[in-house]
Amino acid sequence: MERTLVILKPSAVQRGIIGEIITRFEKKGLKIVGMKLIWLTDDILEEHYAHLKSESFFQRIKDSMKSCPVIVSCLEGKDAVEVVRKIIGVTNGRNAQPGTIRGDYSMSVQENIVHASDSPETAVVELNRFFSKDELFDYPHAMRSYLYSNNEME
Ligand code: TYD
Repeated sequence: MERTLVILKPSAVQRGIIGEIITRFEKKGLKIVGMKLIWLTDDILEEHYAHLKSESFFQRIKDSMKSCPVIVSCLEGKDAVEVVRKIIGVTNGRNAQPGTIRGDYSMSVQENIVHASDSPETAVVELNRFFSKDELFDYPHAMRSYLYSNNEME
């Protein structure tokens, strides 16, 4: 099964919607295999957002992301990266489809509630960035046979 990184940004933490957001992933059938509250630093944000380093808003997103602690989580499931990206919606909350997290909770590009890995390769790198091996757990999912058919669980 595939794993992906989801960060509940300061916009989720401060608005008191952590539970609502996590509930959406749980209800979908994604398994939570890692979760912690951390305060991000410039060092880790410069790595995490390296692809945006030359953008005019780089300092602004770093300031936003370190304005309070965030929840970092690892979600597991078949095709988890793609499924989670669909659940969160496009970057700009104003353009995101209703029914997606950003579409339902955000009016902003920057204050868009969640981050999620955008490819399986990125997910591996991002999970290593935020979690040590002993912070990610393998455990049986009791509902497994009601979430997937046998051939989907391979
Ligand atoms: P990006 O990796 O392009 O989007 P996504 O989070 O959907 O993968 O951008 C990272 C974050 O940077 C984005 O979630 C919000 C912020 N951002 C801005 O503040 N302004 C912008 O114009 C863009 C493109 C992103």
